[in-house]
Amino acid sequence: MAAALKLKANPFTAAALELKANAVTAAFRLQLPAKQWLKPCGIRCAAATPSKSYSITLLPGDGIGPEVISVAKNVLNFAGSLEGIEFSFQEMPMGGSALDLIGVPLPEETLSAAKQSDAVLLGAIGGYKWDRNEKHLKPETGLLQLRAGLEVFANLRPTTVFPQLVDASTLKKEVAEGVDLMVVRELTGGIYFGKPRGFDTDDTGEEIGYNTEVYASHEVDRIARVAFETARKRYGKLCSVDKANVLEASMLWRKRVTAIATEYPDVELSHMYVDNAAMQLIRDPKQFDTIVTNNIFGDILSDEASMITGSIGMLPSASLGAKGPGLFEPIHGSAPDIAGQDKANPLATILSAAMLLKYGLGEENAAKRIENAVLDALNKGFRTGDIFSAGNKLVGCKEMGEEILKSVESQVIATV
Ligand SMILES: NC(=O)c1ccc[n+]([C@@H]2O[C@H](COP(=O)([O-])OP(=O)(O)OC[C@H]3O[C@@H](n4cnc5c(N)ncnc54)[C@H](O)[C@@H]3O)[C@@H](O)[C@H]2O)c1
Repeated sequence: MAAALKLKANPFTAAALELKANAVTAAFRLQLPAKQWLKPCGIRCAAATPSKSYSITLLPGDGIGPEVISVAKNVLNFAGSLEGIEFSFQEMPMGGSALDLIGVPLPEETLSAAKQSDAVLLGAIGGYKWDRNEKHLKPETGLLQLRAGLEVFANLRPTTVFPQLVDASTLKKEVAEGVDLMVVRELTGGIYFGKPRGFDTDDTGEEIGYNTEVYASHEVDRIARVAFETARKRYGKLCSVDKANVLEASMLWRKRVTAIATEYPDVELSHMYVDNAAMQLIRDPKQFDTIVTNNIFGDILSDEASMITGSIGMLPSASLGAKGPGLFEPIHGSAPDIAGQDKANPLATILSAAMLLKYGLGEENAAKRIENAVLDALNKGFRTGDIFSAGNKLVGCKEMGEEILKSVESQVIATV
């Protein structure tokens, strides 16, 4: 009762102080959902000797957000502990839940905690309840404020067709099978932010709406470097997508990407016009490794690419800046139609946690453990409703999380 009152009075500091005062205990208490996780020797031994520690801000948000974050947190914590990594988690309100609690979609305390941490893991925000709010009081406004506040200009969206789920794709099996590509989208510039923009009337008095596609050299250079680094960590091929046959902003884009390529002689660079890229993604998606493109083309192409996999519940994302913490989140929304029913697929958030380890903290081994565990659980036939097909085992969000933990554990036993 006392704890509940304390939280209501000050939801930020109470939670934060509890974790700060006893970060280790809190981390372990939070990570272990079932008693059996305390038993295996591999877990106990690995978790007892952490050599690195990171602080993670968790933003569960709304709808299925808290359900998938709870599962992903356990997986992140467990996989990390096996690599000698200790996490301290700080959970903060965001989106509709923050509106209900504080009256704004992104409280200052939430942004400040996010900025001070090593990485941010977000569930999802939004819901019917807040749909009619004024723009500045919409959960989605909080998300844009968070991305701007963290200055995350590079959005990484992998599209991986898991062999076990190839039939979920709307493309033919032979086209979808083996697709493994990454779209690197510029997130804070281009036509979505360019000025002038607005409504006016032209010489004839007819109403017009207009926007400006504009990029400065430094904006292209920094996203190009992220893309080259990403391609280097993958298969060494980068395709820059633009409309340089028509648009001046794209001509500059191509010039700068070509210039930055000299810093990455080990990465093979190609260029493609966006209309062709949209076609090639459907015709032969396997030709792509890493794609880099501007804000609007990336918005469209990454959604197109994501559908090759068949389910929105499988797709993670990472948003990175020049410095400071990255933001990691599934690409799906809060799915109010299935919220609170233990039906959500947590794999997109679990894979976002793997991206957090790989791209946010440089902890590739721990990331690999999570990626392997996801493959293992799928191999064993565990499926949430969105990816279910006959002959597999239908599980809820929590059970899928437990199966992933078991798969992470079995890797330990194999390697100890
Ligand atoms: N980044 C974000 O937080 C984000 C992104 C998109 C939409 N939204 C918000 O989410 C709310 C709902 O939007 P929507 O319905 O258009 O998109 P949505 O992604 O929430 O849901 C679309 C469909 O996919 C299903 N789905 C989504 N995630 C799933 C998962 N993990 N497992 C199983 N099924 C899943 C849903 O049940 C629904 O049928 C809106 O308020 C919207 O603004 C938030």
